[in-house]
Amino acid sequence: MSDTLLRIVDLLGDGDFVSGSALAGVLGVSRTTVWKHLKKLEEWGVPIEKSRRYGYQIPGGMELLSDKHIIRRVSGSARELVSCLKILESTGSTNSVVRARIEEGFAQGFVCFAERQSGGRGRHGREWVSPFGRNLYMSFSWHFEEGAAALEGLSLAVGVGVARVIESFGVHDVALKWPNDILLSRQKVGGVLLEMMGDPVGSCKVIVGVGLNLGMPKGVEIGQPWSDLSRYAKVGRNELASALLSELLPMLADYSGSGFSDYHAQWESYDAYRNSPIKLQTPRMIVKGVGRGVSNTGAIKVESNGVIESYSGGEISLRPDNDH
Ligand code: BTN
Repeated sequence: MSDTLLRIVDLLGDGDFVSGSALAGVLGVSRTTVWKHLKKLEEWGVPIEKSRRYGYQIPGGMELLSDKHIIRRVSGSARELVSCLKILESTGSTNSVVRARIEEGFAQGFVCFAERQSGGRGRHGREWVSPFGRNLYMSFSWHFEEGAAALEGLSLAVGVGVARVIESFGVHDVALKWPNDILLSRQKVGGVLLEMMGDPVGSCKVIVGVGLNLGMPKGVEIGQPWSDLSRYAKVGRNELASALLSELLPMLADYSGSGFSDYHAQWESYDAYRNSPIKLQTPRMIVKGVGRGVSNTGAIKVESNGVIESYSGGEISLRPDNDH
């Protein structure tokens, strides 16, 4: 990790021009080193304006994540649940960082954010587009003694938590698409990726990964309709990070007691496709019908020919049935 790169972004963070010699002088490095870091930032998609006269600028500025700012705003109960907070300049996937920490024996309350992911992952092995310094990519670990059964519906509950956080910033058109896509005006703004480690019937660890688009740079290509929160509200990255931790950590701490039942009704109130024609792609078949909410374990319910069936499993994907 290069502190110099982050310090350069920090010095350009308020969007003003700063000369190459001033950057080099403050950081105690050569102008060539400054230039190399700026080039790396450009490779990562950060726009850098250059002026012979004034130096360098990040148009519009950039708010880097800061452990100090995140922890200062986090609720007291969530702060007690954080055992370690890491912010990485760039990593493959924050879920993989947390996985590695669990393998080292460090399981509870390890929180990792990254400014950029080079191999961000979504469900079904899809890429999660993760450019530098704009959105939020966060993962944390939680340890459950009660095995996988206690975790039924957890990924849906996390979606409810993220939706609540978005609403807390005064944004109203939030919806959820089964199992855990977060939508704004029907376009995807975030997603949850849960991974499990350990004994499915005993002591297991969960990696909770959340990606939330906050200010996607122009020109980014994503293979589905998407949105970002900055179109709906003025929210700082650190502010959003604190709000997510304040909501999600206490939720995880209480989940084995509460289970999905505490979140069931609210999940259905956010359900984007309740009573709408949907199409489920399962590994064996396509199911067409009308969405009827979710079961008390978080399985999707579909009504076809007057019969309601429930479906669950990581391989299933849901689409609106536009041919209906
Ligand atoms: C999905 O909607 O398919 C889930 C997306 C989850 C993305 C987040 S970003 C932080 C964490 N690290 C990853 O590689 N994925 C999750």
